[in-house]
Amino acid sequence: MEDKHILCIGLVCLDIISVVDEYPAEDTDTRCLSQRWQRGGNASNSCTVLSLLGAPCAFMGSLAPGHAADFVLADLRRYGVELTHVVLHPASSFPTSIVISSVSRGTRTILHTNRNLPDVTAQDFEQVDLSRYKWIHWEGRNAAEQAQMLRRVEEHNRACPAPQRVSTSVEVEKAREELYQLLGYGDVVFVSKDVARDLGFQAAPEAVKGLRARVRPGATVICAWAEDGADALGPDGQLVHSDAFPPESVVDTLGAGDTFNAAVILALSRGQSLQEALTFGCQVAGRKCGVHGYDGIV
Ligand code: ADP
Ligand code: FRU
Repeated sequence: MEDKHILCIGLVCLDIISVVDEYPAEDTDTRCLSQRWQRGGNASNSCTVLSLLGAPCAFMGSLAPGHAADFVLADLRRYGVELTHVVLHPASSFPTSIVISSVSRGTRTILHTNRNLPDVTAQDFEQVDLSRYKWIHWEGRNAAEQAQMLRRVEEHNRACPAPQRVSTSVEVEKAREELYQLLGYGDVVFVSKDVARDLGFQAAPEAVKGLRARVRPGATVICAWAEDGADALGPDGQLVHSDAFPPESVVDTLGAGDTFNAAVILALSRGQSLQEALTFGCQVAGRKCGVHGYDGIV
């Protein structure tokens, strides 16, 4: 039987990346070290990493027609990402990010535009045959719809024997009140540094301990914190930590979090412990920071 896939639901966009040494001052004229187009979006980046790590995976998200969509679709196919659940919106425009990646500072500054592309809905999600997936990951976006999708999976899981259940994870990355309802869903909840700070926490261990009361009983909460690595609290209430694995030189941090999420999900989906998953997530994310794009991470 074919291995069950990991499905990631969220954004695919076009990243137009300018690599510079120093971040430029306003109203100056700077020569870049290099420039490139790259497929972006958290869920789409996590699919890239899953594929590179050898995991069969699928992407579910919205597309608007045009050159950018052709580019990202060809790239998703190149990485062997399954595209059965991509929803086309012929009258919308495709989301784009202008990214300034500063090599000397290890920063990535993102200017994102998404004018009118609707996210996939709970109704779109009704078409998904849950028995094909062992894990479904949501990048928190249209939270109320996504909560409905998660409830569908919870119902499915209640009705089927343990080996056929679908594991779920949710990423709450943007500090937006609407997204915080998603903290109460999923077997694994990824919370970003921005969200942790917005909720009043100054470090990852404090955040995962403080957020335990907001996640489902039995759920795991994970918080990555750039150079400080990542912390997590599992169902047993024990705090787990991994240091970061800094590469020899940090050249590109764009998508480090998406890489971390993908590696953690893969490790957990293979039955590894939370400590092993966290360490693997930091190792793969560290390797990603040492290369431009994703191809050098394995
Ligand atoms: P993002 O800002 O892309 O969401 P994070 O800053 O949360 O990503 O980092 C995710 C993971 O990537 C961290 O847990 C860490 O393991 C790794 N990472 C990020 N930045 C660095 C860095 N400068 N050096 C080493 N590892 C890093
Ligand atoms: C990185 C990323 C980029 C995209 C931006 C959207 O995490 O997904 O690829 O441009 O974030 O917010």
